[in-house]
Amino acid sequence: MNKIIISPSILSADFMNLDTEINAVKNSGAEWLHIDVMDGHFVPNISIGVPVVKSIRKKTDLFLDVHLMIENPEKYIEPFANAGADLITFHYEATKNNTDEVIELIKKHQKKVGISIKPKTSPEEIIPYLDKVDLVLIMTVEPGFGGQEFMHDCAMKIPTIKQNANDDLIVQVDGGINNLTAKICTSLGASSLVAGSYIYNSSDYKKAIDSLK
Ligand code: DX5
Ligand code: ZN
Repeated sequence: MNKIIISPSILSADFMNLDTEINAVKNSGAEWLHIDVMDGHFVPNISIGVPVVKSIRKKTDLFLDVHLMIENPEKYIEPFANAGADLITFHYEATKNNTDEVIELIKKHQKKVGISIKPKTSPEEIIPYLDKVDLVLIMTVEPGFGGQEFMHDCAMKIPTIKQNANDDLIVQVDGGINNLTAKICTSLGASSLVAGSYIYNSSDYKKAIDSLK
């Protein structure tokens, strides 16, 4: 069986104790750390930005998976790359006229590239980009908030992406992931799971992460 990469979303962590919260998921078996960046335009919420990523980078060697839920991502690739992101995922809906340019920009900074689609975007739209990126992030909730309910229809996009991609493309899902929805997604071909509230609201992070794997 393929290895499943767990990427806990710090959106649900205790921000007053980020250092402890990050070490706790690392020591519980997480390989990546998912950082949700929201601008109040692309999504109706504001979260965290470049200075926080920079501070996190200084404190951890976890692979930093930065999810940009922002308009005009091309303006922010360089700052997030310099802040220490390892993977930068942008939303296709925010780059319809310059998707190739954004992919190239991320590659120029020698970072892994992710492209994400919201629930209403069809997977067929991003097929032309699959051989140019490292990861596809399929949103299984409307982006903007943690703790929402998993949308089953969105998981059905996973096979379409898998059928049109090389084996080394990572298919990641984000939103409403718990032990049950994780199973649905991995059986359809997802190899990376983002989970915020399921992990950070649990009393035993290791148990929660193990149950996702
Ligand atoms: C939602 C974010 C997610 C969020 C997931 O817009 O992209 O990463 O933190 O939270 P849960 O796992 O609670 O649905
Ligand atoms: Zn996310």
